[in-house]
Amino acid sequence: MAQNTSQTPAPSVPILASNASEFAKSALIALAIVAPFAYPIWRAATAEPPRPAHEIVLTGTPLPPVAIDDALAGREIFLTTCAACHRSDGAGVPNLGKSIVRSDFLASQTDVEMESFIRNGRPATDPMNTTRIPMPPFGGRSSMSPAELRGVIAYMRGLQDPRRMPALPAYAPPADTAVAVAEIPKDLDPEEAKYIASGQKLFANSCVSCHGKDAHGMPGLGKDLVKSDFLATMSDDDALAFVKKGRPPGDPLNTTKVDMPPKGGNPALSDDDVLDIISYLRFLAKSESQGK
Ligand code: HEC
Ligand code: HEC
Repeated sequence: MAQNTSQTPAPSVPILASNASEFAKSALIALAIVAPFAYPIWRAATAEPPRPAHEIVLTGTPLPPVAIDDALAGREIFLTTCAACHRSDGAGVPNLGKSIVRSDFLASQTDVEMESFIRNGRPATDPMNTTRIPMPPFGGRSSMSPAELRGVIAYMRGLQDPRRMPALPAYAPPADTAVAVAEIPKDLDPEEAKYIASGQKLFANSCVSCHGKDAHGMPGLGKDLVKSDFLATMSDDDALAFVKKGRPPGDPLNTTKVDMPPKGGNPALSDDDVLDIISYLRFLAKSESQGK
C-alpha cells in the first residue's frame, strides 16, 4: 500500500512539473510575441481619448496674464477685423471662421508660429483648411504693425484662457477708421453727402472683412457690391430688408456657399445705418460708372 501510493504519484510529479514549466515557457514566449502588438490596441480601447490641446491649456497651471497694452491693441483689431467671422467672443460663426476659444491649433502654436499664420492666412486649397472657406491674410486687413500682430495674438490667448486676460476698460469703438476710398464731391447735396460719409465709415467697420476695402469683393468671401446688378436693380427698402436678413449658404440664391450674415454680423447697425451704407454703395457704383 505504501508502495502503491508512493509509486503512482512519484513518476507523475516530474511529468506534471515539466508540463507546467513547458506551458509557462511557451505562454511567456507567446506573450512576448503578441504583447507589443496587443498592448497598444488594448490601450486604445480602454484609455481615455487624448485631451484636445485647448482643454489641456485650461486644466494646466495658467501662463502669466498677457500684457494689458497688448490686450488693448489686440481687442481693437479683433473686434474691428476678426469678429465678423470669429464672433466678438471668439466662439466662431457657423460657415465662416472657426472657434478661436476651442482652437487646438492656437493652443498648440507658439506666438512666432501664430504670427506667420496671420500673415499668410489659410487659403481654401491649403490641406489644413477644413471649412473650404479662406482665412484671409491679416484677416482681410492690408497689413498689421508688429504691435498689432503681437496684440491680436495675446488677445486670442486671453479669449482661449480667460485666466490670462487682464481686466480691460469698456470698449469704445474707434471714432474714425474709414479710409477714404472715394472722395465725396464738394458740390453734392450736403444732406446726401452726410449719409454717404456715414455709410463709408460703417462699411469700413462692418462689411470690409468680406466685401473688401473698395467693396469690390474678396475672393472666396463676399461678392462685388459695386458691380452688383442685384443691388443696382432693387429699391433702397428691398436692399435694407436684404441686408437685415442676410443670405445663408442654404438659400437657393446663394451662389458662393458662404454665409452673408444678417447685417454683416453686426446687430448694432440701425436701419438708418444700413441705409447710409446703401447710399455709399450706390455712390461708389455711380462714381465708378461715370469716372473711371
Ligand atoms: C472673412 C472671414 C475671416 C476673417 C475676417 C478672419 N478669419 Fe480667421 N478664419 C477664417 C476661416 C474661414 C478659418 C478656418 C479655415 C479652415 O478651415 O482652416 C479661420 C481660421 C482662423 C484661425 C485658426 C483656427 C483653427 O483652429 O484652425 C485663427 C487663429 C484665426 N482664423 C484668427 C483670425 C484673426 C486673428 C483674425 C483677425 C485679424 C481673423 N482670423 C479674421 C475666416 C476669417
Ligand atoms: C462675414 C462675411 C460678410 C460680411 C461681414 C458681409 N457680407 Fe455681404 N455677403 C457675403 C457673402 C458671402 C455674400 C454672397 C452670398 C451669395 O453667394 O449669394 C454677400 C452678399 C451681399 C449682397 C448681395 C450681393 C449680390 O450681388 O448678390 C449685399 C447687398 C451685401 N452682401 C451687403 C453687405 C453689407 C451692406 C454688409 C455690411 C453691413 C455685408 N454685406 C457684410 C458675406 C458678408
